[in-house]
Amino acid sequence: MLKPAEIHQGSSERRLGMEVVNPTAKSKKLAHPAAHAPRIFADTATMEEIKPLKEGGIVNGVTTNPTLLKRAGATSWVTADKIQKEIVKYMAPYPVSLELTELEPAKMIKQAKKLAGFGSNVVVKVPVGGYSTVERDRLTGLKVLRQLWELNIKTNATLIFNTTQAFWAANAGASYVSPFLGRVADYLYKHDQVERHAGNALYYIENHKAPEGGPERQANTAYVAAGGDRKDAGIRLINEIVSVFNTYQIKTEVLAASFRNAVQVMECLLAGADILTVPAPILMGVADHPLSDEGMKAFYEDSKVFDK
Ligand code: G3P
Repeated sequence: MLKPAEIHQGSSERRLGMEVVNPTAKSKKLAHPAAHAPRIFADTATMEEIKPLKEGGIVNGVTTNPTLLKRAGATSWVTADKIQKEIVKYMAPYPVSLELTELEPAKMIKQAKKLAGFGSNVVVKVPVGGYSTVERDRLTGLKVLRQLWELNIKTNATLIFNTTQAFWAANAGASYVSPFLGRVADYLYKHDQVERHAGNALYYIENHKAPEGGPERQANTAYVAAGGDRKDAGIRLINEIVSVFNTYQIKTEVLAASFRNAVQVMECLLAGADILTVPAPILMGVADHPLSDEGMKAFYEDSKVFDK
């Protein structure tokens, strides 16, 4: 796990130059203590998940992708656009990332303009790499990012798996870069199996409400059972990108994505991420801890004495 001392020293300085996340109204005497805090977004296209998180003041942004739209019930472009428009309207003025699906630059720009037309809070998500697998120019994503910057359209460079991709995207003009930290860890588990052994209870405890033996418990246990670089690979990617952006005062925000558990949320905060986009079930579970449950119950029981 990253140690606090490993956080790049320039992190806080760079955050101070960023947008105020928690503004203090002029009428207030008490300034908000977390004015430049990292932002939390919901990584979902499902309104039922977004609504309670926004109402609870937990998220101030949303990220979607075609997989999440499909999961939210989209079965055609008509239904996909209906869902996207609804999210954009509901979240305004907070940013909502909507992903391009076209593969030819001219069509991508046309689609980007259409999506941007859904609302001034739309951020167009552009995959940076992978184009050679679909027999396209491998620089397609970067070229489109640059053109969208020239058109004053905000972009989120997605499918980022290394620091140079993030750097190229920032140079192209991306407003955000989305490194997929969870998929990095998944890849390492798949291709470089580590010896499995009992995880550290302090980590395992995070998911204590997940069903025994269920996938959530297993994933969390597997995550904490892995050691050293394997376990840290995704988080180190975030920290590396943040360090480079700090060094050169790059204002592109590092939007950590593809979370698998609450431990990664905490580690991304240590790593210096600007924004964390997190699936709703993880966000809902973050406030839970068995010792909080135990303490709350005891305080509640003891306070009853005063009612007499
Ligand atoms: O925001 C990107 C994210 O949705 C990808 O997550 O879980 O498919 O790796 P995942």
